[in-house]
Amino acid sequence: MKADFFKYQAQTTPHPLAMTISHAEGSYIYDTNNKAYLDFVAGVSACGLGHRHPKILNAVKNQLDRYLHVMVYGEYIQEPAVELAKLLASHLPKHLEKTYLTNSGTEAIEGALKLARRVTGRSQIVAANHAYHGNTMGAMSVMGYEDRKRVFRPLIPDVAFIDFNHFDDLKTITTKTAAVILETIQGGAGFIEPKEGYLESVRKRCTEVGALLILDEIQPGFGRTGKLFGFEHYNCEPDILVTGKGLGGGMPIGAFTSSAHYMDQLQDQPKLGHITTFGGHPVIAAAALATVKEITESQLMTQVIEKEQLIRKHLQHPLITEIRGRGLMLAAFTNSPDLTNEVILTCQDEGLILFWLLFEPRAIRITPPLTISNEEIIKGCQIITRVLDSVSA
Ligand SMILES: Cc1ncc(COP(=O)(O)O)c(C=O)c1O
Repeated sequence: MKADFFKYQAQTTPHPLAMTISHAEGSYIYDTNNKAYLDFVAGVSACGLGHRHPKILNAVKNQLDRYLHVMVYGEYIQEPAVELAKLLASHLPKHLEKTYLTNSGTEAIEGALKLARRVTGRSQIVAANHAYHGNTMGAMSVMGYEDRKRVFRPLIPDVAFIDFNHFDDLKTITTKTAAVILETIQGGAGFIEPKEGYLESVRKRCTEVGALLILDEIQPGFGRTGKLFGFEHYNCEPDILVTGKGLGGGMPIGAFTSSAHYMDQLQDQPKLGHITTFGGHPVIAAAALATVKEITESQLMTQVIEKEQLIRKHLQHPLITEIRGRGLMLAAFTNSPDLTNEVILTCQDEGLILFWLLFEPRAIRITPPLTISNEEIIKGCQIITRVLDSVSA
């Protein structure tokens, strides 16, 4: 299997982790030797309810018995997609009332960028240095990391970059700007939270010049920061909200949500302003509906804050210089990329899954399922500190 993996499946790094998966359940993933790995990554923030949550499995199984794909996006009335969009609206500010469902986060970003241009009639997009919004051409155009996009140029024109958290840069946003796109908490950059008043100032500037504010909540969304959406911490409401990852409970999905007035412009001049075959797929939407219900109806979001405290308490070690982030979106920093690598790889041998962040090589990603137990958290932290002891011995 391993040889075939390298021979037939296209790889994105020369050294993938290459663990052969047998099954997964709750907070654990099992390899084909039946070795259990405690999951501190949750499929890179996608499996908020852990692996094979019974409510998600039930929803999927029920939908499998009814129908799979029947028609392209938006033509037929399919209960799971309608109920999901309605449920999202019930948990969002009043103006974020209509949702377009896509197959992935990056595709939802494409939809949001197109919507902003369509609504404003302007072309410029302002994005942040070190931002990550996905890997399709439009999303890559607003990625703030030149090294990873240089060879793919030319990308979409008229994108200006600002430094996240730099208030002075907000003058770049002008009446030529269609939209400002930001991650509510910068992920790939190192789980960097907005400074006090920053997002409010961006919001104010956008309103002054008539630019739309797009917030990418693909990673912080759906309870990971202790609230359903990250922006709820910062007194700032976007014009377009983009979600994905944790929305699907382990199934592939993305979404962009905005006002009816804006979203309805995708129907007209030109009609079919954004189309997809599989977006809103009934099985995926059923899984997402069960996921959002469980996150909003259980105590999981309040427990996230307690779990963050537990991680911060048990992850103290002289080689950990800082823990950044909020809730269960945390990054433990060492002062050396080599050490970070060694910790991630050795922890995997020791039965704990950790991972890197895209642009910050000193960071160890800690984004476990929201459902992880306190005992599992303590166990995982002990593995990390033990591994750090062994490398510093
Ligand atoms: C903040 C953010 N935006 C967009 C994306 C792209 O989502 P997807 O990989 O589903 O296309 C990601 C994925 O890591 C992300 O973290």
